[in-house]
Amino acid sequence: MKPRRSNLSVPGHVAKMHAKAAESAADVVMLDLEDSVPLEAKESARQQVIDSLLHLDWSKKTVTVRINALDTPFAYRDLIEVVEQAGPVLDAIVLPKVNHEGDIHFADRLLTGIALAKGGPDQIGLEASIETAVGLLHASAIVNASPRVKTLVFGIADYSASIGARLVSISGHGEKEEELYPGHRWHFAISKMVMNAKAAGKLAIDAPYGNFKDEEGLRRSAVMACALGCDGKWAIHPGQIAAINEVFTPSKEDIELAAKVIQANEEAKNAGRGAVAVEGRMVDQATVRLATQLWEQARHLGLV
Ligand code: COA
Ligand code: MG
Repeated sequence: MKPRRSNLSVPGHVAKMHAKAAESAADVVMLDLEDSVPLEAKESARQQVIDSLLHLDWSKKTVTVRINALDTPFAYRDLIEVVEQAGPVLDAIVLPKVNHEGDIHFADRLLTGIALAKGGPDQIGLEASIETAVGLLHASAIVNASPRVKTLVFGIADYSASIGARLVSISGHGEKEEELYPGHRWHFAISKMVMNAKAAGKLAIDAPYGNFKDEEGLRRSAVMACALGCDGKWAIHPGQIAAINEVFTPSKEDIELAAKVIQANEEAKNAGRGAVAVEGRMVDQATVRLATQLWEQARHLGLV
């Protein structure tokens, strides 16, 4: 699976940003038809996204399109027109505000129908955005609703609105949290989403950080998401990509430690033992699983 460390969101109606995104270092580029596009530009954004999908080079990227929410007049056309016209280029459709498994079934069957009608490949996945109380409640049913679901993503601002949480910063995307709550305000929501994604063998992606000029805050937010088991984080500005990629890339020290743990485990197995000591710390089979995961990640990224 291609890495999904940084996921750059790009407004669908702003063509010059599409070219910039295609050349960026983001692992995933998401062309957005939802909340970054004003109402009067919904139709033109759809056409612009199709043009960009067809005319820019996405071969080194995972490229996705976020359609409008299914309770709007735009969503069904977004999906049908984008996929009919540019489907073979697309890796996934991002569904905002997914509330029930039925939302996934709807998109899944439309995608199947379009693939049958076109006779082309049927490769398009789904990313389900968990950004309502109902969506989080049903996260397990949502992630298991179709093999097309590859990732769950946390939508921090809409989730805050959905539960009536206090708006802390102007963007509502993760700033000054520690001033309001002594701990990680989104620990439960992110952990629940991560647990449901991982139980289904899928990836979990954190929400974007809204203050794109605050690199330290972005880093802190990314480090916490990584610690909670997220595989990547959304970005809203190209200036956020490098820090996110770095945080979600295993460090040289981590890789060396993982190699030591794996090696020690081999030696322990040969000696008929389950737990051994590495650098003064206990290493058992759980530690070996963690180390093996990190090694696999590093291998995907071409680091080992
Ligand atoms: N994707 C691609 N390029 C982007 C970009 C993005 N998300 N955000 C900014 N850029 C480009 C700008 O076009 C500009 O390019 P230029 O130097 O060639 O003119 C450059 O990066 C610097 O942009 P900057 O002036 O710092 O930002 P801005 O004030 O123009 O825009 C935002 C700030 C937040 C409005 C803009 O980053 C944005 O629209 N982000 C995406 C929002 C979004 O998708 N929201 C929905 C998901 S939560
Ligand atoms: Mg949202």
